[in-house]
Amino acid sequence: MPVVFQIGLLGLGTVGTGTANIILNPEQRHPLVRELNIAQVGVRSPDKARSVDLPPEVVTTDLDGIVTNPDIDIVVEVMGGIEPARSLVLKAIQHGKHVVTANKALIARHSDEIFTAAEAAGVYVLLEAAVGGGIPVIEPLKQSLCANRIDCITGILNGTTNYILTRMQQEGGDFEEILADAQELGYAEADPTADVDGFDAADKIAIVAALAYGGRINLDEVYCEGIRQITATDIDYADRLGFVIKLLATARRDRQSSQSSQSDRLEVRVHPTLVPKEHPLANVNDVFNAILVEGDPIGQVMFYGPGAGSGPTASAVVSDILNVAALLKVERSGSTKPDGTPMLDPLLAPSHQHYCSIRPIDDLETRFYTRLLAKDEPGVIGTLGICFGKNNVSLESIVQIDKHNEQAEIVIVTHKVREGNVRQALKAIRDFDVVEYVPGILRVLD
Ligand code: NAP
Ligand code: HSE
Repeated sequence: MPVVFQIGLLGLGTVGTGTANIILNPEQRHPLVRELNIAQVGVRSPDKARSVDLPPEVVTTDLDGIVTNPDIDIVVEVMGGIEPARSLVLKAIQHGKHVVTANKALIARHSDEIFTAAEAAGVYVLLEAAVGGGIPVIEPLKQSLCANRIDCITGILNGTTNYILTRMQQEGGDFEEILADAQELGYAEADPTADVDGFDAADKIAIVAALAYGGRINLDEVYCEGIRQITATDIDYADRLGFVIKLLATARRDRQSSQSSQSDRLEVRVHPTLVPKEHPLANVNDVFNAILVEGDPIGQVMFYGPGAGSGPTASAVVSDILNVAALLKVERSGSTKPDGTPMLDPLLAPSHQHYCSIRPIDDLETRFYTRLLAKDEPGVIGTLGICFGKNNVSLESIVQIDKHNEQAEIVIVTHKVREGNVRQALKAIRDFDVVEYVPGILRVLD
């Protein structure tokens, strides 16, 4: 029986349910997921129907009992709000629990006392899910990019407003109606003011800026403007001028001061922005978020993905839980395995012992594009079509595009078919007298 890490979940709503569902279904995930056990779950209404299969006896309304339970190793705060979340997190820390939270509102306002308490207690507080939902951005900033001097971070950090702006742009829909859809889909906060007025994005950029620039950010100094005043007319004019409107959150090191000896000054702000259509952030649509980080010496790196919703946010929560579990595993093993060899962090040092089975390229199923030169005479396209059909390749289109030196250029796009069948068909076609040249195939991204 592997080591088991006991988890206490505070909240079983959108994110809590997604988190429980990952832990309860460990197949084909990292082996450490099997070592997690959901010991207790704290909710407000224990009789509510839930889309997760947990034994009823683990569900309780006694959240205080969870954070003080000596058997629990990691407290996962996915209940939201400031109180009682703040007091429960602080109490969990005082009781020596590591904490994982998705609560950006809490961290943006109370990181000072939470991290001070965590340092004193020697426990971790991890918050990957607090910014960008499922997009890994906190850990990359803390670890993979930590050698860089960060110049600027610009992001679409609120899924709800991006969803609303995208639908207004694409369908000219009504603001209130689209907002209701976002709430239904679990993207918007229970009180959507934080999303729509930009406060949620402000919390997130404050968290990211604190990490990137190594100092605390006073939320009151973050300029914040939301999207309520954006109309279909603004969107239309922006479109005609070659822009889309996005709610951007920006943190930038003040250029003048960064060249002088005075301590760095930052710009940290959230407001709707016209983004040129060719800019990478212009094409980040729906509930997707993206964070463009500019640093020295890395240059630009963009993180993109689902910024809200049950599964994506739970993915970030569980990755934090696993990071803590990996550390605890090394700690509990006394730093050595039973055979005396050093115990390495199981997430940093994977111990693969088997080769994966790889599908041959001939078995790939996708759409294909190919082009060939053939004699421009009756029956050629028919002959080609028959050959593809004999090889079980269904064609989406076959057209004669142009003529080169009295030869017809024929462009073919297939339906989703097996690559081996396309190659077989082309092998036969290359031998046709009427066919001059077949350069090869291109796979079409679905
Ligand atoms: P939610 O669906 O409203 O769920 C909240 C859960 O916490 C519910 O299970 C609720 O219990 C429980 N709860 C709340 N207050 C409680 C109290 N005083 N006592 C006992 N239980 C209480 O919220 P969510 O969308 O999962 O969000 C959770 C956190 O994740 C928030 O901090 C949010 O900002 C953050 N987050 C959410 C998303 C997202 O896409 N939703 C993405 C990133 C981060 P009942 O079920 O009994 O009512
Ligand atoms: N309400 C938030 C959003 C959830 O729409 O981005 C993710 O933090």
